[in-house]
Amino acid sequence: MKTVVVGGSGLIGTQLVTLLRAHGHEVRVASSATGVDSASGRGLADAVASAYAVADVTNTSSPDAHAAMRFFSSSARNIVAASQAAGVRHLVVLSVVGTDLLTESPYFRAKLAQETAVRAGLVRFTIVRATQFFEFADGIAQAADPGDVLRVPETTVQPVASRDVAAALAEILADAPVDGIVEVAGPEQMSLAEFVGRSLAARGDPRTVTADPGARYFGATLRPDALIPARPPRLGRMRLAEWLRAGSERN
Ligand SMILES: NC(=O)c1ccc[n+]([C@@H]2O[C@H](COP(=O)([O-])OP(=O)(O)OC[C@H]3O[C@@H](n4cnc5c(N)ncnc54)[C@H](OP(=O)(O)O)[C@@H]3O)[C@@H](O)[C@H]2O)c1
Repeated sequence: MKTVVVGGSGLIGTQLVTLLRAHGHEVRVASSATGVDSASGRGLADAVASAYAVADVTNTSSPDAHAAMRFFSSSARNIVAASQAAGVRHLVVLSVVGTDLLTESPYFRAKLAQETAVRAGLVRFTIVRATQFFEFADGIAQAADPGDVLRVPETTVQPVASRDVAAALAEILADAPVDGIVEVAGPEQMSLAEFVGRSLAARGDPRTVTADPGARYFGATLRPDALIPARPPRLGRMRLAEWLRAGSERN
């Protein structure tokens, strides 16, 4: 069974490709390194030819709001069109828990446009919304106002190891499409301040993190439940403490 991983060279993509290959799947990695540009559509038709399933785990690092919208909407439309033409049976797209509640943020408006393009297409799909990856604590810290005390929104999170997200995606790709949303989260909830604070402390960063009800999350004001799953999630196994311990042993 041929599976195409668009964004197969990224954090999630590389782990997903490894897992699928370990399970005996034929996998095609589609990213700029393999001559595929999902935003323009270049190379997509060839990449998805005769594929049974396609995973879209692309991302853009552009800080520009318009660029993110252009990227996710055209990339999703191109992936849907190429998948439809190739007779793909299951398109799995990775999104973020709470995306529809965060549309004050340009990034999440772009993610919602990606989801909308997938829903509007004729290919059967599953949108997988994951919570914050453990690896993403640094990104949240960088987005907070600089200083010795980082102010993050007063909200609850249920962060997850990226490897657990990759494992969930590998299973979901082999399941029947749900034509809707499946959510993936970590095994424990905590405040966003605790998540970021413990992650910084584990690598010796002296900054402290405090919850500020007025702070924004990538430009969005947050409902207290915006970042936790809205439906019973598939749960990852790894706890934050275990992941942080493994990280400090690696360093
Ligand atoms: N960070 C979090 O906490 C979190 C939580 C839930 C969901 N997510 C979602 O997870 C997804 C994957 O995130 P990630 O951290 O794994 O991303 P990443 O490490 O930044 O990888 C992005 C991938 O997209 C590829 N890509 C970028 N532009 C492309 C283009 N024009 N054509 C083809 N491939 C392109 C990149 O390859 P090249 O650059 O080589 O082309 C790379 O393989 C994102 O959509 C994000 O919204 C993230």
